[in-house]
Amino acid sequence: MHISVLLEECINNLNLRENSLVVDCTLGYAGHSSEILKKIKKGYLYAFDQDKEAINKADSKLKKIGNNYKIINSNFVNIKKELNKLNINEVDCILYDLGVSSPQLDEKERGFSFHQDARLDMRMNQEQELDAYYVVNNYELNKLVDIFKKYGEEKYALSIAKGIIKNRPITTTLELAEIIKKNVPFSYKKDKHPARKVFQAIRIEVNDELNVLENSLRQALELIKVNGRVAVITFHSLEDRICKKIFDEASKVDDNLKKLPVIPLEYQPKYKIITTITPSDKELNNNNRARSAKLRIIERIR
Ligand SMILES: C[S@@+](CC[C@H](N)C(=O)[O-])C[C@H]1O[C@@H](n2cnc3c(N)ncnc32)[C@H](O)[C@@H]1O
Repeated sequence: MHISVLLEECINNLNLRENSLVVDCTLGYAGHSSEILKKIKKGYLYAFDQDKEAINKADSKLKKIGNNYKIINSNFVNIKKELNKLNINEVDCILYDLGVSSPQLDEKERGFSFHQDARLDMRMNQEQELDAYYVVNNYELNKLVDIFKKYGEEKYALSIAKGIIKNRPITTTLELAEIIKKNVPFSYKKDKHPARKVFQAIRIEVNDELNVLENSLRQALELIKVNGRVAVITFHSLEDRICKKIFDEASKVDDNLKKLPVIPLEYQPKYKIITTITPSDKELNNNNRARSAKLRIIERIR
């Protein structure tokens, strides 16, 4: 089962109205989309996901609430292109609840988890060619080290990458987890699973998650109407840094213009940061997946 993170905080801060046009970029199991649909009886919801299994389950859930929605089976990097195909050039709210859903993690054959044995896969879009098996068995040393450092902030990147190359071919998640374990110091195994960061890094690489997020968020800011809001729930510091950078850039006044007594309207920022929210203690106690979540919201003001 998937428990939606920061659900209430998200719904309360999207400024939803009965006739809002909303985009949920990460439909998943329709936790957020269901609550949105209940609030926009005369509006419309466009929901993206690149995972067909998630879409099928979400569709049967949404059908019971209303029919004013369309599911778009596409990567959210195509947000503008897909909406333009439907003659939609601007919307009131856009939501991202990033990462993988609990069912994706739990279905062992998806190969996301270092707790369950499966072929190395980690593709959110099962039709995509690049998978974790290819990354683990074909990338050269420098490239592996680079992604483990950049996307996993893994301090033992070099010894892990060398261990991987020595043990090729590596077919399954548990084989990989075992090799990682053997190539980090004993003290590193105490707190969290030593494979956590490398698995995160490979997943980000396979799904090109950070580039896709940056590209899509920039499009989202262009698509949003005046008084409309973009909300992003991130689950690790790399995603959050991208979101913060883009929101800060969009809402800041140029340093040179700050010196002017009055800033001409055309140079004033078009966006205002509304809030950053982390889960309550109650939510943290109920949902382990919420522990590193952060919700950032920005509004278009002119
Ligand atoms: C955390 S889950 C969303 C859960 C949903 N908000 C809920 O409450 O049920 C993230 C979903 O977004 C999808 N996803 C992640 N990155 C995506 C992308 N770049 N394009 C389209 N879908 C994506 C995943 O397949 C997954 O189903």
